[in-house]
Amino acid sequence: MRNACVVFLSFAVSALAYQVTAPSASKGWTDTGAQTLTWQRVDTDRLNFTVVLTNEDRSVMPINDQVLAAQVDGTLLTTVLNPPSAGWPVGQHFRVNLVKSPEELDTILAQSNEFDILPPKEETTSKTGTTLRPSTTPTTPATQTTVPSGNGNTGGDSADGSTNPPGINSASVPTIAHSGILSVFALLGFFLA
Ligand SMILES: *[C@@H]1O[C@H](CO)[C@@H](O)[C@H](O)[C@H]1NC(C)=O
Repeated sequence: MRNACVVFLSFAVSALAYQVTAPSASKGWTDTGAQTLTWQRVDTDRLNFTVVLTNEDRSVMPINDQVLAAQVDGTLLTTVLNPPSAGWPVGQHFRVNLVKSPEELDTILAQSNEFDILPPKEETTSKTGTTLRPSTTPTTPATQTTVPSGNGNTGGDSADGSTNPPGINSASVPTIAHSGILSVFALLGFFLA
């Protein structure tokens, strides 16, 4: 029994380990504001890693291997990365490497797929790039984040701190109560008239 477990576990480790789930080819970054990195890990993975932006095209990134964050807590499964001091480079064929430390950029734990960093599409008026929008895109269970808005830091312990039961949107409760009161008043007005 135990042997079977060990065999299964070691298979799982080799099959999984750290994996970058975003950014990706289909969902890149913008050049405006902080950008989100999400990943998966297994229990045997290192507890922390350093995030490095890479691009083989020197016309896009004159200096390769830009360290975006060091000592990221791997158990968070998501973090928000501020732009480099010179701002985000813009172009295609970027990759993000999760490496062991800023001193060991070649010890790569995981590598993202190639992705783009492009100016945001002009959908709304958000030009100043708010650091965190509430995630409206459907997420797979593995990348579900529930990042509290306004928490732009990499620290904290938001991995599974959500206490809201699913399906109960706290914002909608007062609205329902409110419209209930309104209809009571409407009824009263009807009878009083
Ligand atoms: C980073 O992870 C390594 C290996 O898991 C651990 O030895 C080290 O203490 C961690 N460092 C920090 C700052 O958490």
